[in-house]
Amino acid sequence: MLNKVAVVTGAVKGIGLGIAEEFARQGSYVVIADLEKEECDKTAKEIEAKFKVMALGIKCDMASQKDVKNLVSQTVKKFGKLDIFVNNAGIYPFKPILEITEQDWDKVLDINLKGSFFSISEAAKAMQPGGKIVIISSIASLVGFSGLSHYCASKGGVNGLVRAAALELAAKKINVNAVAPGAIETPGATGAMDEKARQQTMAAIPWKRWGQPEDIAHAAVFLCSEKADYITGQVIVVDGGWTLQ
Ligand SMILES: NC(=O)c1ccc[n+]([C@@H]2O[C@H](COP(=O)([O-])OP(=O)(O)OC[C@H]3O[C@@H](n4cnc5c(N)ncnc54)[C@H](O)[C@@H]3O)[C@@H](O)[C@H]2O)c1
Repeated sequence: MLNKVAVVTGAVKGIGLGIAEEFARQGSYVVIADLEKEECDKTAKEIEAKFKVMALGIKCDMASQKDVKNLVSQTVKKFGKLDIFVNNAGIYPFKPILEITEQDWDKVLDINLKGSFFSISEAAKAMQPGGKIVIISSIASLVGFSGLSHYCASKGGVNGLVRAAALELAAKKINVNAVAPGAIETPGATGAMDEKARQQTMAAIPWKRWGQPEDIAHAAVFLCSEKADYITGQVIVVDGGWTLQ
């Protein structure tokens, strides 16, 4: 991954930060995209200091095509190319289906699904053959979760999008894959959880531990390596065995 240029979205914390750090550890230049410019710049500086690679922070709302276009063009302007795009940004606000409003639905679908479409279409326009795109899906694309019907729909949509895009972009020799995490310890997932709830979730995981951002990062980095050149359109589940039951 030496000297590759990798964009990671939703990268100032949680799984996205874990992915950005893993690319930097492998010698890639990383672009940190997230909602707050200051946080992006701070994270980019920390990565530069820790891994001795160049990093750039760019403010980007994944629900905005204009922002995603700007993210790609600023990346190419700074580094001269785009090799890897990982769309990790996503939201998962719990709400019973009978209470979900049209606005709730649109917000989740706009960020998680439309943002993935913008990621693939804008990144692929800028990439050369050998480019790699990874979208962070979820095991909620494969099994149902109460209180997350909009989220489950968005991630199911992501899997379909990844398969169709991979088929089309094979002609350009660009790989498109998804990683579907199980329960991963992040500010979004466990930040507001008490110990009892953490233990209950752990009991459902055959591996008997919460996943860590690095568990997802390793799968994402592998899918973006030359070793994965012949893998495309796949959804790689990383869940400690949760969905086997
Ligand atoms: N943590 C889990 O257990 C888990 C499980 C399955 C899938 N996922 C998926 O992994 C991804 C990351 O989850 P996490 O748990 O690290 O979340 P998190 O809430 O801890 O962090 C998400 C990051 O994305 C950013 N973000 C949110 N909306 C954005 C937008 N519109 N544009 C740009 N950035 C935006 C946030 O600012 C934040 O920095 C999501 O796509 C999520 O659906 C997480």
